[in-house]
Amino acid sequence: MKAIILSGGKGTRLRPLTYSGAKQLVPVANKPILFYCIDNIVQAGITDVGIIISPETGEEIKRAVGDGSRWGISIEYIQQDVPGGLAHAIKTARNFLAGSSFIMYLGDNLIGTRIDTFVREFNDNSPEALILLKEVDNPKQFGVADVTKEGKVLRLIEKPEVPPSNLALVGIYIFSPKIHEAIDRIRPSKRGELEITDAIQELIDMGCKVESFILEMWWLDTGKKDDMLTANVIVLDEWLKAGIDAKVDDKSNILGRVSIGKGSVVRESKIRGPVVIGENTVVENSFIGPYTSIGNSVKIVRSSVEHSVIMDGSELNEIERLEESLIGRNVRIFRNNKLHKALRLMIGDDSVVEV
Ligand code: G1P
Repeated sequence: MKAIILSGGKGTRLRPLTYSGAKQLVPVANKPILFYCIDNIVQAGITDVGIIISPETGEEIKRAVGDGSRWGISIEYIQQDVPGGLAHAIKTARNFLAGSSFIMYLGDNLIGTRIDTFVREFNDNSPEALILLKEVDNPKQFGVADVTKEGKVLRLIEKPEVPPSNLALVGIYIFSPKIHEAIDRIRPSKRGELEITDAIQELIDMGCKVESFILEMWWLDTGKKDDMLTANVIVLDEWLKAGIDAKVDDKSNILGRVSIGKGSVVRESKIRGPVVIGENTVVENSFIGPYTSIGNSVKIVRSSVEHSVIMDGSELNEIERLEESLIGRNVRIFRNNKLHKALRLMIGDDSVVEV
């Protein structure tokens, strides 16, 4: 079995973070979302992986991921020249897939479970497609499935006005090569894309076996700010391992599960886990509260922050209470004592500031 990971798209819902980079590389607990996808595929024993990239962010993805040797696998990059939809991406990867069964994994989907059981299920039962479903509150934003109590898929609809259920299609699918035939039979949707949802519906119409599983564990489509913060909380809660590789002075107090990388320094500060801090970061006279991820080369001085993500190269100085915030790279937030009660901002397009 092979795997393709979709890592194109514009990431409009995560702007402004995605103006300067690919959404699949936005970090959750200091690791790009895309890396969690690769980990999961590798854990399922798959070593032949194709990453579908776009002309806009492809080079950045290649630089971050490399040739796969970090995971002991081989990675091939396949460029999709136009954002023609998920089924179009499979079409683009047809040579790479070479008649093999495969997993399609959307590079911004994060799930709280391994996928090896689904791969085994697919190998044992040989359906033409295996899909994962998850109950959601807002089914209109996803592909939605109508299934019988026994799990038989009756119908699939992409972003329905009137959803037949609250079961959304998770962005992880397993297909036999039969899917190519179905893709060749479908037409672009209203949004002008070749939808994978329509191709799976086509398989059903062709009389093929389509299996479904309802995911019990969490699933996050890390498209939006709130999902990013939730993803950060869940991953820190469930997967973070404690380990301190930094200089911590004896006036500091570290409590709970905290990971701090090489070259970082903590002085006269209190850190209450779960917290991850990257390399070469300085925390001074500050409080870092639970569910915070701080990247590399960050400086936090006389500040207090919790339940937030602060990316590489940023600086907080004399900020009393920063909470539930997502701070991009190389951002400076500081107090100007001369101008009481005045806010002076230089904020990029599509930013949100709540004061
Ligand atoms: C895509 C699929 C949709 C699926 C979702 C999962 O949506 O078209 O069926 O539920 O991924 O993340 P898109 O991200 O293109 O809106």
